[in-house]
Amino acid sequence: MSHSVMKKIVLIGFMGTGKSTVATILANRLGWNTIDVDYEIVQVSGMPISQIFEEQGEAVFRQYESDVLHQLLTSDERSLVVATGGGAVLQQKNRQLMLEHSFVVWLQASQEIIIERVKHDTSRPLLAGDLEERVAHLLEERKDVYRFAPFSIDTTDLTATEVADAIINEI
Ligand code: S3P
Repeated sequence: MSHSVMKKIVLIGFMGTGKSTVATILANRLGWNTIDVDYEIVQVSGMPISQIFEEQGEAVFRQYESDVLHQLLTSDERSLVVATGGGAVLQQKNRQLMLEHSFVVWLQASQEIIIERVKHDTSRPLLAGDLEERVAHLLEERKDVYRFAPFSIDTTDLTATEVADAIINEI
């Protein structure tokens, strides 16, 4: 349990890599709390994410996201699993914050599996339009931004429980 001194685990990764599902299972297994940054943003703003994007724009959403992350990661709360949104790592200050206050785990998945997992969900404004084109474009744009994580797992052929177990083995 060399990393457990951190007492916070942050899951990062592209949309559809299973961050929220894995966070719930992981927290259950560890007896820790879990919190989803997107869920918190909806609570704080009083609006669904799609509405924030539509009415206030992505920059305002990113500000909410940074604020929530900062609050969660600098709190004294221990034993916490944080599931982030796929773009939470876009700002350097957020990546820095995660590294300082948590054990960061990057969940990866193939493009095909990502499309499979998100195709029936219309809640992600960045995927509106031609889904395959949007996913390919964003994956390319973001291909290096998750690399700062000290530990990563390819979730393509794993169940969420297997991913959680792999994380438990690592901490
Ligand atoms: C986003 C990912 C979403 C959500 C928002 C923006 C992104 O979260 O935060 O739609 O920029 O990748 P999930 O990764 O949980 O889908």
